[in-house]
Amino acid sequence: MQAVAFQNQKGGVGKSTLSLLVAEQLAQFGREVIFLDNDPQGNSTQWFLNRLTDADYPLILEELQTKNLYNLLQERISPQNALLELPETSLKLLAATPNYEQAKTAFRDQPGHENLFRMLLRELKTEYLVCDTPGELSLLTNWSLSICDVIVIPVQTEMFAVETLPIQLERIRTARKYLNPELKRVYLLPNLFDTRLKSCHYALEYLVDHYRNMLIFHDDHQPLWIPKRAEVMGFIDSHEPVRSAELKNRLQVLVQALFPEFT
Ligand SMILES: Nc1ncnc2c1ncn2[C@@H]1O[C@H](COP(=O)(O)OP(=O)(O)O)[C@@H](O)[C@H]1O
Ligand SMILES: [Mg+2]
Repeated sequence: MQAVAFQNQKGGVGKSTLSLLVAEQLAQFGREVIFLDNDPQGNSTQWFLNRLTDADYPLILEELQTKNLYNLLQERISPQNALLELPETSLKLLAATPNYEQAKTAFRDQPGHENLFRMLLRELKTEYLVCDTPGELSLLTNWSLSICDVIVIPVQTEMFAVETLPIQLERIRTARKYLNPELKRVYLLPNLFDTRLKSCHYALEYLVDHYRNMLIFHDDHQPLWIPKRAEVMGFIDSHEPVRSAELKNRLQVLVQALFPEFT
């Protein structure tokens, strides 16, 4: 299994959006994908539920009562049975239910809770696992860090967003040292890039100057960024597939960087 987590302690930077776009990209090619919604707010889980037809919705909602991440951690269900199978896709969902918020306190004092999470998740058989995470630094952040080989930090291309990066990177360095030595790569992904704004270009330049080795580059050596587009909002709000060749190409470059053997 190859696992990627989208992580940033800031909200609204595109963690859910980009994790859904990448997971959908993999599923479109018929690959086995597990989407792990490790955010108690469950925005991504809701996105998958909203896409269901009226006929499927009640059945899946019923299944969700037992097949979810919190039940898995409480060992009320086995890893393979905790996956919610969705119609017409090779993607399976490990869903966040509202009670998942309680995991933060329920497991806080339990010895080895990070290992519990890792052991359960590593039992899953799949080609790819895509993990969405909450916009905070908490025990759930460590859980995500404990299972992933690759981390993507979506960054809003604004100076105030860029300035919090050192704290986050230090946290990842510590996790790699003490929690998950398999955490090999960390990428910064500038998002919400508005080509008309000077402030966006300035923030991108700053990233290239200070974090060049963590950016992804196109073949022509330009840094990869995701534009601020109505098309992306349409994907999130109305489940419209990405259509523009430019955005498709950017997603392809992203997936290729995350999973080099993916073609
Ligand atoms: N590249 C983009 N273009 C346009 N809107 C975007 C883009 N990325 C994210 N958004 C929008 O920004 C909002 C916050 O994104 P979201 O993925 O929920 O952030 P996070 O999960 O980090 O809190 C959402 O409404 C989403 O549709
Ligand atoms: Mg989110």
